[in-house]
Amino acid sequence: MDGNGRWAQSRGLPRLAGHRAGTENLRVIIEACVEFGVKYLTIYAFSTENWERPPTEVRGLMRILEDMIDRQLDELNTKGVQIRHIGRLERIRPSLQKKILRAVELTRHNTRLVLNVAFNYGGRDEIVHAIQRIIQDGVKPEEVTPELVSRYLYTAGIPDPDLIIRTSGELRVSNFLIWQGAYAEWYITPTYWPDFDKEEFRKALEEYKRRDRRFGRIHTPT
Ligand code: FPP
Repeated sequence: MDGNGRWAQSRGLPRLAGHRAGTENLRVIIEACVEFGVKYLTIYAFSTENWERPPTEVRGLMRILEDMIDRQLDELNTKGVQIRHIGRLERIRPSLQKKILRAVELTRHNTRLVLNVAFNYGGRDEIVHAIQRIIQDGVKPEEVTPELVSRYLYTAGIPDPDLIIRTSGELRVSNFLIWQGAYAEWYITPTYWPDFDKEEFRKALEEYKRRDRRFGRIHTPT
């Protein structure tokens, strides 16, 4: 959900106003996922590196997540959205940790859309965490396979992403789903996240539909 800060700055607003507009837009995209039949949506809301931002912005982002849970949890639950958290709970204040766990617990049987919230998430951190647990579990080296590693990631049980959308034109991965995204299709748009509306989303899905996914193979004539 990149570009919130620049969206705000271009309007002479504080950065947090951009994050709030971005949060409103998230509602639009969740609705669109339900309408278009998208089954899994992962949003990158706070990275392990975002702690380095000014304390006011970090606090603001924590508050936005808390407000979102307070105000929208019931509605999301009624819509059939299953909320999952990927990332570390450590360092997040205990009251917010509790709310995250409650949202996950309340919605765990919902099936219309799985909303993965990457919060205090980093791809390298996730892989390190997985390796630590693999070693703790005494897994033998020859038992370590890509499938086993996938089962130790925060996204265990969730399919790898087909499409990763990056808004605001940046051409980098930024530590997002670096294992799971190995064969994801990328769609990059200059549009800032708060302006990435349903029509832009439809365009991204239409472009995805035209991609030829080969997963490293070549097409063999039939
Ligand atoms: C990137 O834009 C965006 C973020 C680091 C935060 C995104 C978070 C939200 C929209 C809050 C919503 C959701 C939840 C569930 C907490 P940027 O700040 O890097 O923008 P810039 O590159 O223009 O400065």
